[in-house]
Amino acid sequence: MENIEDKIIFLTEILNQHNYNYYVLNNPAISDFEFDKLLEELSTLEKKYPEFVQNDSPTLRVGNDLSNDFKTTAHEYPMLSLGNTYSKNEVTDFHNRILRETEVEPEYVCELKFDGASVSVKYKNNLFSQAVTRGDGTQGDDITENVKTIKSIPLSIKGENIPDNFEIRGEIIMPHKIFNLLNVEKQAKGEQLFANPRNATSGSIKLLNPKDVAKRGLDCYFYYMMGNKKIANNHFDTIKILSKWGFKTSEHSRLCKSLDEVFEFINYWDLERKNLPYDTDGVVIKVNSFELQDLLGFTAKNPRWAIAYKFKAEQVITKLLSIDYQVGRTGAITPVANLEPVFLSGSTVRRATLHNADQISLLDIRIGDDVYLEKGGEIIPKIVGIAKHNDNSKPTEFIINCPACGSKLEKNEGEARWFCPNSDCPPQIVGKIQHFISRKAMNIDSLGDETAELFFNNGLIKNIADLYLINKEQIVLLERMADKSAENIINSINNSKSVSFEKVLFALGIRFIGETVAKKLAYHFKNIDNLIIATKEELIEAEEIGDKIAESIICYFKDQENIELINKLKKQGLQFEIVEEEKKSDKLIGKSIIISGTFNNFSREELKKIVENNGGKNVSSISKNTDLFVMGENTGPAKLQKAISLNIKMINEQEFLEMIN
Ligand code: IVH
Repeated sequence: MENIEDKIIFLTEILNQHNYNYYVLNNPAISDFEFDKLLEELSTLEKKYPEFVQNDSPTLRVGNDLSNDFKTTAHEYPMLSLGNTYSKNEVTDFHNRILRETEVEPEYVCELKFDGASVSVKYKNNLFSQAVTRGDGTQGDDITENVKTIKSIPLSIKGENIPDNFEIRGEIIMPHKIFNLLNVEKQAKGEQLFANPRNATSGSIKLLNPKDVAKRGLDCYFYYMMGNKKIANNHFDTIKILSKWGFKTSEHSRLCKSLDEVFEFINYWDLERKNLPYDTDGVVIKVNSFELQDLLGFTAKNPRWAIAYKFKAEQVITKLLSIDYQVGRTGAITPVANLEPVFLSGSTVRRATLHNADQISLLDIRIGDDVYLEKGGEIIPKIVGIAKHNDNSKPTEFIINCPACGSKLEKNEGEARWFCPNSDCPPQIVGKIQHFISRKAMNIDSLGDETAELFFNNGLIKNIADLYLINKEQIVLLERMADKSAENIINSINNSKSVSFEKVLFALGIRFIGETVAKKLAYHFKNIDNLIIATKEELIEAEEIGDKIAESIICYFKDQENIELINKLKKQGLQFEIVEEEKKSDKLIGKSIIISGTFNNFSREELKKIVENNGGKNVSSISKNTDLFVMGENTGPAKLQKAISLNIKMINEQEFLEMIN
C-alpha cells in the first residue's frame, strides 16, 4: 500500500475487527502473535505519522500515561437502580401488578444480573466519546480514558440507522480468572486483597493511570440503550441490534412468554451460574415491549417495568478437617477451619473463619463434620451450618492455652473472643509490626508482611521502633534480599518519618483505635503528650470516644513499655503532633482555578488545598468563567487547547507558588 494514511486506516480497521472477534465473539481469527505483529506495525506508523492516527485506533487500548483527573459529570438521564427481591412470590406480585396496570399478558426479557460496576457510555458519530460511572445516579465520574482500555467495548461501531448521538449502559466486570490472578499478585506483594470481583472492578475503573487499568483484564456487557432514540419496538430486538453494531451483549438473555418461563430461567441460572466465568448475583426481568414500558413508567428510583430477582449467596458442603487457632496482633484468638478443598464462587476454598468459641458451640461445629460453606461480601468464606455430624464426633473443646506461647487464655466480660495476655507473644509482635507498616498506617510499602516476619524471625527487629535502627547491610545478609530491595526498604522506612500524627497514632495499634478514631483523637488532643496524660473524663469529651475506647487508651499508656516505645519513635523523628493548617489568606478570593496534571513539589490534592486556604475555588472543567489554569506535567492536550481558545491565564507550579507565596 503506497499511501501511509490508507495503510493506517486499513490496519486500524482490521485490528479492530480482530479485537471484536476475540473479545466480543470469543472467536479469534488470527493468533496472538500475528495480532501483536500488526499492532506493532500500526503503532510504529502512528508514531512516525501522528497526523493520521484514527480516533478508534486499537493502540488507545493500552492506555495513556496521563494521570486521571476524574471530573464529576452530570448524567443526561439519571442512572436508576432496580427494585430487587429474593422472593419468587414477589416476582409473582410484580407480574400481577403489570397485568393489572396494562391489562395484557406481557412478554419478559430475562437477563443475567452482572455483578460489577455499571457504566454509561456515549457514542457520537459512531465513535466512543465518553464513559461515566454511576456515581450517585445523577452525577458520576468521567472515566473515559480508563474505559477506552477495555477491549470488548467498541471504539467505533458500524451498522444501519445508528443515531448520531446516543448513550448506552452496561456493567463492567472482572472475570474470575483475572480476579484470582490479581489477588495472587497482591498477596505476593503483601497488599490487601480484593474481597470479590465487584470490588476489584470498582477499584480498577478508578485507577489513576489508564495503563494500569489496561492490565486489569476488564470486560463489559451492555444491557440498556438510553433515551428517546428508539431503534426497535422492544428491548429484546434493541439488544440484538446493539450486538450487530459491535457491542458485547449477553448470549444468555431469553425472551419469556409467561411467568412460568421466567421461573424456569431463574431456576436454571441459580444452579448454572456456578459455571459462568464471572459473577452474577441474580436475574433481571424486564417487560419487553417499549409501549408497555412507557405505560408503566418509573418511580423516583426504579423503572416500574423491571425487577431484579437476587440469588441467595452460594453455598457448598465440604468436610471440616481440623481447626487452627491464630493469634492476632491484639492477642485475640481466631479459630480457623481447615477444609477439604472445594470450589465456591469462582475460587477454591481451603480455609474458613470460625469467628470465636461462641460461634463454634452455637453451631456445634465438630472436626470431621460436613459443613455448609458460604461466601458473603468478604474474602474469607464462613461456615454457616452443619450438614451432618461425623459418626464418632465429639463437641469441639476450645483451646485454653495460647498456641504460640502457651500462656493461659483470658476473656473479658461481655467479649466473645479469648485472648493471649502475653504482650511478648511472637505472633502478636509480628502482627503489630505488620499493622504498623500497612498502607493506611505508616505506609512502609516496600516492606511486605512476609519480609517483616522474616526480619523478626532473624532478630533484626523486636518491635516497631527497631525498624528505624536497621541498616542496609543487615538486610542484605538475609536470604533472597537484593541490594536494591534493601535500599528501597530503608528509603521507605525513612520516608515514613513524615507520616502525619493521626496515622502514627493509628499505626501504634492501640485496641479499638481505628483510622477514624485516631484522626478524631489526634485533632482533639493535638499531640501525644496531651493524649498520654488525658483522664477518662477528658477522653470521653472527644468526639466518638466512649467508655470502651477511653479505657483501652488509658490501659495502653499505663504500660511503661509502650511509653518507652513512643519515646524511641519520637527520638527517631516520627510525627507526634498535629501540623496546624497553613495560614489562610485572601489572595485568591473570588477566583475559579483549575489544577491539572502532575506537579514536582506538591500533589494535586495539596495544591487544591492551598487554593482553598487562600480563598480560591477549585473547579474541574474549563469554562469562560475560569480565572486561572495551573498547569502541571502531562496536562491533557484537549484541556490545554480549550484553555488557550478561551484565553485563560495559564501558569506553572512555580509561578502559582510565587503568586500566593
Ligand atoms: S438494567 C433502568 N440489566 O444492576 C434499568 N441492570 O440494581 C437499568 N445490572 O445499576 C438497569 N445486570 O448496574 C440492568 N442485565 C442487567 C443488569 C443490570 C446488572 C446492574 C446495574 C444496575 C443495577 C440495578
